[in-house]
Amino acid sequence: MYMKEELLDKGFLHLVNQSEESLKSFINSLGEIIFTTDVIIKPDSKGMITSARGLDFHTDHHKAKYIVWYCYKQTDKGGESILIDAESLYEQLPKNYQEQLKGIELFEHKIFPDDKESYPFIAIDENGKKKFYYSFWLVKNEDKQNPAMLELQKLIRQTEPIKLKLKEKDILVVDNHRVFHGRTPIEGSKDRFLKRFWILPHQL
Ligand SMILES: [Fe+2]
Repeated sequence: MYMKEELLDKGFLHLVNQSEESLKSFINSLGEIIFTTDVIIKPDSKGMITSARGLDFHTDHHKAKYIVWYCYKQTDKGGESILIDAESLYEQLPKNYQEQLKGIELFEHKIFPDDKESYPFIAIDENGKKKFYYSFWLVKNEDKQNPAMLELQKLIRQTEPIKLKLKEKDILVVDNHRVFHGRTPIEGSKDRFLKRFWILPHQL
């Protein structure tokens, strides 16, 4: 299928003007939903996702191979999605830094009952492919000054991200094991409402 190829090639896919029916069948073609979240602003929110703040580049929980967002409403200012290809950043690092990063684990973003305390920056999935796990705020203290980690963060800052603004009825899907995502601050009307789905792919 053409859409799947584009997703495999770029690590993300933006589809405009999709009905909820086509959202359903698109998700079904990817896998099964393991977690659903309303991405909406709550005043005085302590949770990052429900605040109006911008979010630096990160992956979501590593169990989610794909993240799908469906846009019900977008704010009139800000709230752009930003994406960066972690695989290509990693390939730009010197070999010794790549090796160092293989030994680093970050704090687990605990959601599921069997979640451990930490999870590696790079794991290998069942197809032998690299699987990245990263959030600036989940880096352990002892790794914050690691030269390889600092170099990775510098590369993130220096790389021009893909920036897109979802409109009502748009779908965005990212390969959460390959592409880091974030968002710019939500300003203006702030009546932004996305639904986020974490997807576990069908077993072949
Ligand atoms: Fe996220």
